[in-house]
Amino acid sequence: MCGIIGIVSDKQVESYLIDGLKRLEYRGYDSAGIATVNDHQIHRRRSAGKLGNLQALLQHEPIQGQIGIGHTRWATHGAANTENAHPHSSREVAVVHNGIIENFFDLKKQLQKKGHKFESDTDTEVIVHLITDYLHQGDQPLKAVQKTLTDLHGAFALAILFKDDPNTLIATRQGSPLVLGIKENELFVSSDAVAFAPWTQQVCYLEEGDLVVLSKEPKFNYVLYDRTGHKVERPLRRSQITGESVSKAEYSHYMLKEIFEQPTVLSDTLQSLLNFENQMITLKDVNIDWNTLDRIQIIACGTSYYAGLVAKYWFEKWAGIAVDVEIASEFRYRNPVLSPNSLSILISQSGETIDTLAALSLLKENEHQVLALVNVPESSIARKADHVLQTLAGPEIGVASTKAFTSQLMVLACLSLKIGRERGVIKPDTYDSLVQALVSLPGMISHVLQNSEDYQKLALSFTTARNCLYLGRGITYPIALEGALKLKEISYIHAEGYAAGELKHGPIALIDLTMPVVVLAPYDEWFEKTLSNLQEVIARGAQLLCLTDQKAAEKIKQQVKSVCQIEIVVLPFVDSFIEPILYTIPVQLLAYYIALLKGTDIDQPRNLAKSVTVE
Ligand code: G6P
Repeated sequence: MCGIIGIVSDKQVESYLIDGLKRLEYRGYDSAGIATVNDHQIHRRRSAGKLGNLQALLQHEPIQGQIGIGHTRWATHGAANTENAHPHSSREVAVVHNGIIENFFDLKKQLQKKGHKFESDTDTEVIVHLITDYLHQGDQPLKAVQKTLTDLHGAFALAILFKDDPNTLIATRQGSPLVLGIKENELFVSSDAVAFAPWTQQVCYLEEGDLVVLSKEPKFNYVLYDRTGHKVERPLRRSQITGESVSKAEYSHYMLKEIFEQPTVLSDTLQSLLNFENQMITLKDVNIDWNTLDRIQIIACGTSYYAGLVAKYWFEKWAGIAVDVEIASEFRYRNPVLSPNSLSILISQSGETIDTLAALSLLKENEHQVLALVNVPESSIARKADHVLQTLAGPEIGVASTKAFTSQLMVLACLSLKIGRERGVIKPDTYDSLVQALVSLPGMISHVLQNSEDYQKLALSFTTARNCLYLGRGITYPIALEGALKLKEISYIHAEGYAAGELKHGPIALIDLTMPVVVLAPYDEWFEKTLSNLQEVIARGAQLLCLTDQKAAEKIKQQVKSVCQIEIVVLPFVDSFIEPILYTIPVQLLAYYIALLKGTDIDQPRNLAKSVTVE
C-alpha cells in the first residue's frame, strides 16, 4: 500500500526521492508525488498513475531542495487523481501519510468551521490543517505535530516538512511501519528499508508511537521521542537488504526473478533450521512445550493463508495435532473460543498485514501464546509475537507472492516434523526419509525451472480464456487455490481453485469448451479418485492441463480416451509430503507466462498491494 520516503541531504533530493519511490512501487499504488523545501517555500509535484507520469512532469517543472518527502498512494479516501495524491500541503507544511485517519470526518468539519479550506477528498488533509493551525497558534513544529497526533485516531505513518524550518523533517509511526536510514551527511526515513537500500544499510526501526526529528544542522542528526514524548534511543541495526537484492538483474520481471530464486531461498531456509549431520530440526529462540498442545490455529491472509491450509495436512498427519486455519480478516468477528493449551501461528510475509496484526492483538488481549512466521524479522507482527520463525526468502518485490510462499511452506514442513518427533507421533525412519525429501527439494525445483519454456507454450491456449478452474485433491488442494489466485492476480482471468471432490457440487455446471481446467494429479494416495474427476471434465469437452508425474501420466494415457483434449506436464515423482512445494512452481510459471502474453503489469497488478496496511 502507500509508500513513504523522506530524505535530508547535502545534495539535491529530487532524483533521490524518485529513485526511492521506484523501490516502493512494489507495494502497489495509483498516484505519486514529492515535495521539497527551498528558499522558504514548499515545492510540490504530484501526478495520477505510475511514477513515469511524475517523472515526465518533473522534466518540465523540476524542483530544487536538499530536504524532501515522497509518496506512492494506494487510494482509500477519494479517487486516484492528482488532487488526492500526496504530499498534501498548506503554505506552511507538507505531509505524506500511510494508513487511515478514522476520525477525519469530524476533524474536517471542525476545521472547516474554523475557516480551513480543503482541496482533496482524503483523510490526510486534516493532518495538514491541524499542524498548520497549531503553527498559527505559535507552536514550534515539534509541538504542533505532537499536539496533532493526540487529535488523530487510526493507524498511520507520517513524514512532514515545514516551510519555515527548512532543516527539519519530522516522521512518526502509529500502526504503520517506519524505518530510519543513517549515513554521513544524509538521513532517510521510509516505510521499508528497501527504499534506501543502495545508499545505506545502517537502519533504526521506529517503535509504535515513536516520533523522529531529522535535522540537517548541526551535522545531520536525529532525535527520537517515544509515545509519551520522552527522548529515547533505539538500537541501530545492519539491514540485510542491499541494492543488489532489490534489483531485477537480467530478469524481465521481479516475479520471474523471485520464481527462479526459489531453489536458493528454500535451501537457505532449510539450512537455518536443519542440522544436516544429525538431521535435527532446531527452532532458535522458540521455547514451546509441544506435548502440552491440544490444538493449533493458523491465522493469515491471501497466499499466507494457503500456506496455513497446507500446514493443516502436515501437522495433522505428521504431528497428530488438530489444526484450524482462519482468515485473519474474519478471526476477530467470531468471538473465537481459545483453548488454554492451544497455540496460534500467524503467517505473514510482510509481518505488517493489518488484519493479521488485529488478530494478534486479540490473541494477546486473551493472553494467548503466539508464534509468528514472517519474512521480515523487524516487522510489527514479529515484534508483538511471543515466538518468531523467519523465512529466508529475502525481499519479495513482485506483488504476487512466490518465493515467500514456498519458504513459508519449507518452515511449516520442518515444524510439522519437529512437533511430530517431540510428540513421538512420527517414526524415526519416516522422519529421516521426510527430512531427506526436504533436502532434495531445491534440486527438484531447479529441474522444473529448467523446463520453464514448456509453460510459455502452454500459456498460449489460456490467453483467450475468461475463466479457469484449478483442481487438487488432498495436500495439493491448497495449491489449486494458490494457482487460481496467482492467475487472477496477475492475468486478470477469473480463476477458482476447488477440491476435486467438490467438482460435482457446483463448478461442473460451468465446464464447457471455453473453460480450461488445470488439474494437479501426482501419483499419490489420492490419484485414482482425481483420475475419475479428470474423466468427468473431459466428458464435458473441457481442455485440460494435467500437472503430474511419469507414473500418473502413463495411467492417464491408458485410461482417458480423448487424450487430444489433454496437455500433460510431467514433473519429478516426489514423496507426497513435498508435493505442495514442488507443484507450486508450475502454477507460478503458468500464471506468469499467461500474464506475459496478456501484457499485464505483472509486478504491480492493478488494484493490488503487497503489504495491506488498511482494513
Ligand atoms: C496481499 C498480497 C499477497 C499476500 C497477502 C498477505 O494481498 O498481495 O501476496 O499473500 O497480502 O500478506 P502477508 O504479508 O501477510 O503474507
